[in-house]
Amino acid sequence: MLPRPPHYRRLPPHAALQAHRQGRHHLQRPRARRARPRPLRLDPEGTYLISGGLSGLGAHTARTLVRHGARHLALVSRRGHEAPEAPGLLEELRTQGAQATAHTADVSDPHTMQPLLEQLQAGPHPLRGVIHAAMHIDDHPLTELTDDQLHAIIAPKWGGALQLNAACPRTDFVVYSSISATAGFMHQAGYAAANLTMEALVRARRAAGRPGTFMIWGAIDRVGYVARNQLTGALTSMGAAPVDPDDALDALAGHLSNGSEGSAFGRVDWHRLGAVCPSLASPRFAAVRPPEIAGDEWHLEAVRRRLATATPPEALALIEDMLAAVISETLHLPPEDIDRNRPLQQYGMDSLLAMEVLARFRVYIDQDVPIMELLHTDGTIHGIAETMLPHVLRRVHTNATSTLPQPRPDDAADPAAE
Ligand SMILES: NC(=O)c1ccc[n+]([C@@H]2O[C@H](COP(=O)([O-])OP(=O)(O)OC[C@H]3O[C@@H](n4cnc5c(N)ncnc54)[C@H](OP(=O)(O)O)[C@@H]3O)[C@@H](O)[C@H]2O)c1
Repeated sequence: MLPRPPHYRRLPPHAALQAHRQGRHHLQRPRARRARPRPLRLDPEGTYLISGGLSGLGAHTARTLVRHGARHLALVSRRGHEAPEAPGLLEELRTQGAQATAHTADVSDPHTMQPLLEQLQAGPHPLRGVIHAAMHIDDHPLTELTDDQLHAIIAPKWGGALQLNAACPRTDFVVYSSISATAGFMHQAGYAAANLTMEALVRARRAAGRPGTFMIWGAIDRVGYVARNQLTGALTSMGAAPVDPDDALDALAGHLSNGSEGSAFGRVDWHRLGAVCPSLASPRFAAVRPPEIAGDEWHLEAVRRRLATATPPEALALIEDMLAAVISETLHLPPEDIDRNRPLQQYGMDSLLAMEVLARFRVYIDQDVPIMELLHTDGTIHGIAETMLPHVLRRVHTNATSTLPQPRPDDAADPAAE
């Protein structure tokens, strides 16, 4: 389970300024806070609208709301009644004592949403809460996304959130976000943007005294996109093993009853996920990253220290060692079986695996190396390390502070000076 996001104590401006002058950080370190959740009681007289509520996690959310007392549900999706799960779901909810209706609407389209929202508000069971779960995913590197593809990804989440926000200023307002946005999964930049803007919208609502909550989900098992596309194995090996949707929605219920701004629920292997999401090495994750990662042989600071005092040949050997470690993990080969002077293509390294190696390597060195330069290497670990060396050393020495030891002089030519 992801730790809850840190709780910061907000200081009044004068105290913050004073703290700043005294060199203290005006945000205090997060303190663990575990409150026993109160049972969630929903209003049986109000209507709860779920966008994307006729399939996947949205449909499972409908079941959960009914378990917690909701009796009127409006489930919205573009296919509406035509969604494959719709008839079974509506019947199931009916047998549990709830009246659920399917609505055919694009949540981002004001022409269909406004009349629907007005109709629900004017009905005998006015809107009491909104869960915004609609989504569209289309993974590509950002540079390859067309405007149409980007729009299709962003519109259901952000466009939908805007429609619901405008029409429901005072109702409970929950948006579903994703760990992909928090961690920065490659090829999901549009999805990340849509999720993060929704989280910002929730913060803005709360700042204006309105209800709002975001829930950041890790991968979900059994229902929804991951299960449907058989991504469980791939996500587990990336470090984001899916969780059972019942556990996830129990967590949501607890979170809603506590009324906090946002929460995250998922199962994360920080080592693995950090290898493919370099941003997890950044300081903003320090409060949630497990301490043992700091003891990692290849932890960023440890690597920097070793590089800062290394002679150029030592630095080159260190980078070769790091590359060999990453490549052996990626190719599932013992490091000693990888000849550093043999082209990696001969070990089955393709362009996708090469991208994964680069992403993992960035975690160790916190530095991009221009792809075009890498394409001109001979494709061996030795050749790649030689190309990376000047970039890595430049980064290390740019970042050198008084806490880092100074580099030792060496007679050998300094590749960083090339
Ligand atoms: N599944 C996971 O592992 C996971 C992980 C992290 C976060 N989440 C979040 O959880 C939510 C649900 O995910 P899921 O896996 O259950 O997705 P899903 O099974 O693909 O369901 C998404 C739903 O959104 C509806 N939808 C798409 N565009 C819409 C639009 N413009 N207007 C109205 N409805 C629209 C789709 O129905 P129509 O095609 O009929 O419109 C579909 O019912 C998403 O917000 C997602 O970001 C899921």
